[in-house]
Amino acid sequence: MTIAKALDVEAVRFSAPDLSQMHQFLIDFGLLDADDAGDGLLRMRGTGSAPFVHETIEGAAGFAGLTMRVRSLDDLEALAKIEGGAVEAATGPGGGFRVALRDPDGFVVEAIAEKARAPELSHGSRDSWNVIARREREGRAKRLAAGPANVIRLGHVVLNVTNLAESWKWWQSRFGLLVSDEVRTPNGDVAALFIRCDRGSETVDHHTLNFASVPGLPAQFHHAAFEVADLDDLMAGSRHLEIKGYHHDWGVGRHILGSQVFDYWKDPWGHRVEHWTDGDLFDASVAPNITDIPTMMGHQWGPDAPADFAA
Ligand SMILES: [Fe+2]
Repeated sequence: MTIAKALDVEAVRFSAPDLSQMHQFLIDFGLLDADDAGDGLLRMRGTGSAPFVHETIEGAAGFAGLTMRVRSLDDLEALAKIEGGAVEAATGPGGGFRVALRDPDGFVVEAIAEKARAPELSHGSRDSWNVIARREREGRAKRLAAGPANVIRLGHVVLNVTNLAESWKWWQSRFGLLVSDEVRTPNGDVAALFIRCDRGSETVDHHTLNFASVPGLPAQFHHAAFEVADLDDLMAGSRHLEIKGYHHDWGVGRHILGSQVFDYWKDPWGHRVEHWTDGDLFDASVAPNITDIPTMMGHQWGPDAPADFAA
């Protein structure tokens, strides 16, 4: 039985030993300072309506959890009841309420509701495109500013889990999620799930969560993906990160599953973060698709994945 419904993923949390170094990376990655809650955490926002999308606490480097936004306080109360937890005040800008959960692998999952939406900022979306299907910019030139990308929002989080069936059961029963793609091994075992939110007739990202299970690998964070304004924005942002000397991981290319244009980077402690644009949007009527690992790891154009990406 579904306990609550997730509307979207809202934020990721990391731990890092140097908040000012993380801050500089995130500025170069295209995030903006969120309102300061005065509690010593580094919080960054995009130009979208989330008060913050990336949090860092000071400490040994690592992934520290993710936040899912659910419909209402009723959803939080239902989650608190099944988990034996309590609804409490959410931390950070925007206020609201939260329930702290742990999934079967021990990942820290925070469910939030009634967090105030932030005023959306101009995202400097570079301009319209004169593609063959639509001539959208007539009579004027396109001129782009060099600099960081314009991150709008967190789009998805990818985790390696130790027992995919158990993880899916836990997450689906608590957040009312849908499968977009089920990735199978040649012998029919499920190797990964691309998971989206169920917002009925409203379209959502092809994947909000992606769980993979690689035999022999422990439960671990794989990457967090942030939506940018458009392809120009992604490419300008990629060049900016390159000039700044950060660790480029994979891209630029276009995925098969989800179709988005991707560009993967690593923060100064090796956490993989993605810029993406132009992903698939599905409503709840789209049935799950069954596919294979080469399709998951493949691309429609762009370089091949580095060897450590699948691991
Ligand atoms: Fe991704």
